[in-house]
Amino acid sequence: MTNDTTPHINIHDALLLDSDPESIVRYYQSWAATYDSDVTANYFGVQLIADLVQQHVQSSSTLSDIAASALTIMDVGCGTGLLGKPLHAMGYRHIDGVDLSAEMLAKAGESGFFRRLFEGVDIHQPLPAELAGAYDVAVCLGVFTPGHVLPEALYQLVGMTRPGGLTVISTRVPYYDTTDYQQVSDRIEAEGVAVLRKRYMNAPYRDDGDAHYWVYERL
Ligand SMILES: C[S@@+](CC[C@H](N)C(=O)[O-])C[C@H]1O[C@@H](n2cnc3c(N)ncnc32)[C@H](O)[C@@H]1O
Repeated sequence: MTNDTTPHINIHDALLLDSDPESIVRYYQSWAATYDSDVTANYFGVQLIADLVQQHVQSSSTLSDIAASALTIMDVGCGTGLLGKPLHAMGYRHIDGVDLSAEMLAKAGESGFFRRLFEGVDIHQPLPAELAGAYDVAVCLGVFTPGHVLPEALYQLVGMTRPGGLTVISTRVPYYDTTDYQQVSDRIEAEGVAVLRKRYMNAPYRDDGDAHYWVYERL
């Protein structure tokens, strides 16, 4: 859906970003102020991916014994922090976030749901040492989407989790169809970095299209 007042919502505009960090920073600099009101009404993926996190944590042999209030979660490309609200409502208290955009992160900070926020982290680049292997869960919504991150970023996400940790990701359907995401996913398993625990295809995401959802466990 796109109209004169919400030009950013157009997925075709996002394609023009071409995964270039400076273009992405500029794009979200001008969208941060209205992002939440532009997207929240029809953003089904927020609750859906939070539910997947909870469901898979509870069935994980490594994580199920950890109290929700102690479980560490990294929200990768957290933007304005929309995921913070449902995760906080589930009892999670150690929620951190990274993003390229200072303006989006400032909104996440205002939400009050995040413990720590890391600005200017480009998920295409090697991770800051303090983020490597540091989390029980990495979650990433709305970032594996046209014009944004490349499929290889999957390695960086999984790399934020500890052995037995979970990585939960959405990929928009057109993104999956036009990138080598599946090959990267297959490779990460073949290399013994992580195992794909579950894949949900063509599930609700937003009113302008569905997404696939992926749950990996770090080996
Ligand atoms: C569509 S928004 C999604 C924000 C939030 N996860 C949500 O679902 O509302 C995409 C976010 O990904 C961030 N992003 C894009 N490329 C990135 C990269 N290479 N490294 C870190 N963050 C990135 C953008 O700055 C933006 O905040």
